[in-house]
Amino acid sequence: MTKDQITKFLLSTSPEVLLKTANEVRVQYCGKVVYIRGLVEFSNHCCRQCLYCGLRAENKTLQRYRMTHDEIMETVCRIAKDSIGTVVLQSGDDFSYTRNDISTLVRDIKREFPHMAVTLSIGERSLDDYQAFRDNGADRYLLKHETINEKLYACLHPGQELKDRLMRLDHLRKLGYQVGIGNIVGLPGQTIQDLVDDILFIQDFQPDMIGISPFISQNDTPLRDMVSPDLSLVLRCIALARIVTKNAHIPSATAVNTLDPDRGDALALTSGANVLMVSYTPIRNRPHYQIYSGKKSLELDRALEMISAVGCKACLKRGDSLKYSQETENVHTAVGNPAPKIPSA
Ligand code: 5AD
Repeated sequence: MTKDQITKFLLSTSPEVLLKTANEVRVQYCGKVVYIRGLVEFSNHCCRQCLYCGLRAENKTLQRYRMTHDEIMETVCRIAKDSIGTVVLQSGDDFSYTRNDISTLVRDIKREFPHMAVTLSIGERSLDDYQAFRDNGADRYLLKHETINEKLYACLHPGQELKDRLMRLDHLRKLGYQVGIGNIVGLPGQTIQDLVDDILFIQDFQPDMIGISPFISQNDTPLRDMVSPDLSLVLRCIALARIVTKNAHIPSATAVNTLDPDRGDALALTSGANVLMVSYTPIRNRPHYQIYSGKKSLELDRALEMISAVGCKACLKRGDSLKYSQETENVHTAVGNPAPKIPSA
């Protein structure tokens, strides 16, 4: 899509055609299937100072926790018992888990559950760390670019630079990871032009996975008084990401559900999203993974209910990237399909 097309869609007051087209593209390229992932938020310690995030190091009010190797393995075991084929291991940027700790964890998961895909979402590490995790069997890496506006990025992430994140994304891909990127919609200071640039970046990068979530303020951060965007703007971004990538895996972010607890997930799933992340974080830890205020967790039974409510089938299998995988069950393969017709704005 061109810059002008994307801008028109983001500004349009009647997004129905866009959302409907994105839903059709999802069905055509991903099937009427919603993939389920098991999420373990294993540490809320973080050395970064991202202004929007409740895990930021300077937030002294947050009760911090770290799960041990054995606790994480027990949780992965619960995910395997529910027949879910992907575990997403997520944490703040917590270097108390060394290269060796994470490598051992990945290796042990792969030894116990050889068919399970392991996704890491543990932030910016050294390139040698990424190599070691991959060598030990990690399949996927999520590292959201958050915003492609260099100045805004620098302002919201004290001490960090966008170019370092982009360099890591290129490197992760070279290492053979399935790579996830994504932006936050409605960040203070963000313009529509910035969001257009995010979509153009997604189109250019062609990631395997995309996480798009609305900004929601967290009470113990410097951005506590900032408002969230309309759900409609978030849905438009999800829809555009679907149309420009066709078969990327796009979860309905928990933040979408927090914006609208009754309809958020269902609307995301009918506007291009095709993945749900179910929480397996131990109940005692959940209230402390406060990246934003009012964060909700999704349970498996609720996810399954929602999937049938939107007329889809749940897929618990590993659900690798559709960009390379030959997994055809329930999926109309992308190979040879014509490009979707993009309606005029
Ligand atoms: N609103 C929305 N998303 C947030 N994240 C962190 N804080 C917020 C917030 N206030 C997301 C970021 C980050 C991940 C840890 O959570 O995208 O990558």
